[in-house]
Amino acid sequence: MSSDSSMKNSLTMPVVRIGSYTLAAQALHWITAALMFTLVLLAWVMVNMPRTAANRELIYTLHKSLGLTVLAPVAARLFWRAIHPAPPLPGSLAQWERASAALSHWLLYLIMLGMPLSGYLFSAWGGTPSPILGCSRSLV
Ligand code: HEM
Ligand code: HEM
Repeated sequence: MSSDSSMKNSLTMPVVRIGSYTLAAQALHWITAALMFTLVLLAWVMVNMPRTAANRELIYTLHKSLGLTVLAPVAARLFWRAIHPAPPLPGSLAQWERASAALSHWLLYLIMLGMPLSGYLFSAWGGTPSPILGCSRSLV
């Protein structure tokens, strides 16, 4: 009898996550993810373009501008995350699995902040302008 009920308990143990990210968190996740993928694609195109290519400067400008723009949704995400904690992980996960999930998420946040900031700083130190959304003479 008791083994029956423990079997039932193990079968009915929740394996899915209870609760979910808010709609705003999901929207911000996909906005930043789309921007990050676009930035890497633009970077790949621009660093492989011949130096004399007609659109080279435009692609660099677009990369820099979008690269700085991404800071806005990232900041919004971090703010939203601070006031809306992530839903709890399934109880079946081991401690090391929880720790690696948390670590990889915070590393992604670090990348989302570190890439635009280092990109901007290296560009500025190199003496080239970093226009943002057309707000620079270098766009015209
Ligand atoms: C095809 C691409 C992607 C898919 C399918 C995806 C999917 C997901 C899913 C399902 C979660 C929730 C994880 C959970 O349940 O705990 C998540 C969280 C997260 N993703 Fe993505 N993701 C993608 C791209 C990205 C990119 C490009 C970034 C940033 C560079 C990113 C950053 C994050 C972060 C930081 C979290 C943790 C959110 C939090 O707890 O605050 N993701 N992603
Ligand atoms: C999330 C934001 C960003 C991502 C993911 C990103 C990503 C990249 C990647 C993958 C490269 C190619 C590196 C290589 O293969 O040599 C690159 C190059 C570059 N990025 Fe970014 N970047 C970001 C933001 C920025 C910003 C904000 C600026 C400047 C304001 C910038 C300026 C540059 C420049 C000038 C290069 C070319 C370096 C060279 O010619 O060797 N990036 N970026």
